[in-house]
Formats: sequence, structure tokens, C-alpha cells
Amino acid sequence: MSHLESTLDTLYQRHLELSNKVDWGYHNLLPWERGKNFNEHPWSPNQGTISPELTVAVETAMLTEINLPWFTAGLKAVFAQAPSALKAFVHTWTREEDQHGRILDVYLLLSRNGEPEARDQVRKNVISNGWQNDEGDPFAVMVYTSLQELATRVFYLNLARAAESQDPVLSKILRVIAKDETLHYAFYRDAAKAYIDDDPSRIATVCRIIPQFVMPGFGMPNFRQRLHVIAKYANYGIHAYYQNVLKVVLEFWGVLHYDVSAGTREARRTLDQYLVKLQRLAGRQAPAMD
Ligand SMILES: [Fe+2]
Ligand SMILES: [Fe+2]
Repeated sequence: MSHLESTLDTLYQRHLELSNKVDWGYHNLLPWERGKNFNEHPWSPNQGTISPELTVAVETAMLTEINLPWFTAGLKAVFAQAPSALKAFVHTWTREEDQHGRILDVYLLLSRNGEPEARDQVRKNVISNGWQNDEGDPFAVMVYTSLQELATRVFYLNLARAAESQDPVLSKILRVIAKDETLHYAFYRDAAKAYIDDDPSRIATVCRIIPQFVMPGFGMPNFRQRLHVIAKYANYGIHAYYQNVLKVVLEFWGVLHYDVSAGTREARRTLDQYLVKLQRLAGRQAPAMD
């Protein structure tokens, strides 16, 4: 077994231990006492507990999470020839992510936040549209998923803060999900670091992938409007992404400290241009509730 493979094995074992400690169940977290039969008590807009804007944010999170079958299919394919720890991680990760879409979906129904009929239609459309991974390099995918997992962690924590005064039960659910996302991020971040240490020329791939990052809900109906609402009311937008996600990952991997060799020069130039642009955009978007 190579040094890289044994490092990945250790990281996977660490993930299992930590994720067992934060494991949770629906029965403890969902507000069952709020449940009412929709046929006997039809939905109306004034029944919800959170603002329409926070409802949009929670629905967007749910609509992203429920595309899990497609994310799993994509990861399984790209990791087909990868070390066994990565393949095993995808199974564990799927089991954990599966809880996120479900708990948010059931929460929205029990709490009567958002119109169930319309949401159901969007939900079905999102799942049937699916998602496709066009990247064939497992390492490149791990760079991408590191950003994605940290982005979801920061998003859920900011949303939890925004929801605290409106519905503490929701806030608690979001914090519990954020713990899972933290562990997912830590696994991918450290696995990617092990790959970089194994072959530092991989930093060129990091430089190439970072500018391509978009949140996985890209393509769902009204995605831009949703992002706008989330930035304004849940304090998660370009500013939070730049400060609390991208800079954190860049720093951890030491991306900007690598010598720029002939092999990485072009990719690094692309990254530098992207960072200048993103920093400018982040500066314009003042945080609403920092
Ligand atoms: Fe998730
Ligand atoms: Fe995750």
C-alpha cells in the first residue's frame, strides 16, 4: 500500500469515528407536534413560522440536497479507479447527506413554511433534471468538493443564525446539518492535501478548478433570485464565500505559496485573475448581519 493510500485510509477511519459522535435522528429533531393533515387543514400562507425569504433559503437548500442520487452516481463513477478509502467514503457520505434533504423537506411540511404543492413540483423537476459531472480526475473532484462542503457548512451556519429568532427548532436542525458538512469538508480537504503532498505539481489542478466553482443548485428554477435572497437575508453570498470559504481553503493548502513553475504558470495566472475579480465583487457585497 502506498503512503498516499494509507493516509487516505487513516482519514476515512477518522471520519467514521467523528461522524459516529455527531450522528443524529429525525425523531429527536423534527417538530412533530406541529403536524396536521393537509386534507383536513389546507395550507395557507399565514401558517408558516419563518419569513418568506428564509423559506426560500431553506427550500433552496432542500432542493440542492435532494439531488443526492445524481451526486452519488457522479462521484462513484469518477472514483471507480481511485484508492478504496475514497470509494468507501462516498458510501458513508451518501448515508449522511441523505438525511439532509429529508429532514429539511419534512421540516417544511410540518412547519407549513412554503406552499407544499408548488414545492413538490419543483422538487420533482430538479430530481428529474439531475446533475452531471464532467470532470474525470478524482483529485480535481476533491478540490471541488472541498470548496462545496465548506460552502455548505458556512451557508447552514449563517442560515441557522438568521433563523434563530424566528424558529429555534429550524436553527437547531441547520446547526446539526452544518456539523456533518464540517466533517465532509475536513475529509476532502485533508485527502486533497495528501494528494498535493504526494505530487506538488497537482497545484496546477487546484488553480484550474477554483475558478470553475459554482454551487450545486445551479440550474434549478429561479436560481439567481434565490442566491440574491440568500445573500440578503441569510448572509451567505459572494462576500461570505470569498472570506469564509475560498480564502480558508487557499490558506490551508498553501496554494499561493507554491513556486510557479512552467507547468503551473498558466493555471496560476487564471487563478490570480479570478481572485482579483472575486475580491472586487466581495468588497461590493457588504455583509448584512456580521
Ligand atoms: Fe448536505
Ligand atoms: Fe456534505
